[in-house]
Amino acid sequence: MLVAGNWKMHTDRDEALRLAAEVVRRTEPEARAVDVAVCPPFVWLDAVRERLHGSRVALGAQNVHPAASGAFTGEVAPPMLAALGCRYVIVGHSERRQHFGESDAFVGEKVRAVMGAGMVPILCVGETLAERDAGEAEAVVRRQLDGALDGVTLDEAEALVVAYEPVWAIGTGRTATPEQAQAVHAFIRERLGARFGAAGRGVRLLYGGSVKPDNAADLFAQPDLDGGLIGGASLDAEAFAAIVRAAQQTGA
Ligand code: PGA
Repeated sequence: MLVAGNWKMHTDRDEALRLAAEVVRRTEPEARAVDVAVCPPFVWLDAVRERLHGSRVALGAQNVHPAASGAFTGEVAPPMLAALGCRYVIVGHSERRQHFGESDAFVGEKVRAVMGAGMVPILCVGETLAERDAGEAEAVVRRQLDGALDGVTLDEAEALVVAYEPVWAIGTGRTATPEQAQAVHAFIRERLGARFGAAGRGVRLLYGGSVKPDNAADLFAQPDLDGGLIGGASLDAEAFAAIVRAAQQTGA
């Protein structure tokens, strides 16, 4: 199981440092059995890294540019994140697709670049409410997966994480039911298996979208859910730790 906190564009410096320290303290026992990660804003990565030092909590970034360097004002390159000690990088989050026009092909470039820099992409996919209502959830997820994984080789399952995040469940308090999540996760697992064989079938599949302490256990109990990508609840160390605990208990 992997539980990753996506802090989005929240926290000031003091809050980020306090939150990191609290996550370390509150997830100490569970972090032996469950992989735990936090993804702060770029500007706090270095400071948070120091706060995580010596703990089992890993560091992740929320975004990246695919080029290794160059004239891309305001962007951050994969080697920069690797040098900061990032293990994970979230790519293709629906907020990036929606507000910054990121295409499947561009997300795919990021996946390859993150892997090339020795980090693990957390590739986000998920349909909007209109797409779900039109019966297109699986078709959308298939298109996003195929677009982002084109040209990717996967030798080991640990090199990739996929997060299914239905857009209608993100930040809305409206979670997918465990059955809805499981159905799409099973579909993703099958696609990854068809593309990458055993390594693909072993890729960890996170669910994201209004995961809270009171719904985490039911979601994580589904056979193809290997953890969660947590937004709002990751800003509260107690709630985040409770979700980690749920992952430890259902994953055990
Ligand atoms: P949420 O966000 O938990 O606040 O719904 C999840 C995400 O966007 O990763």
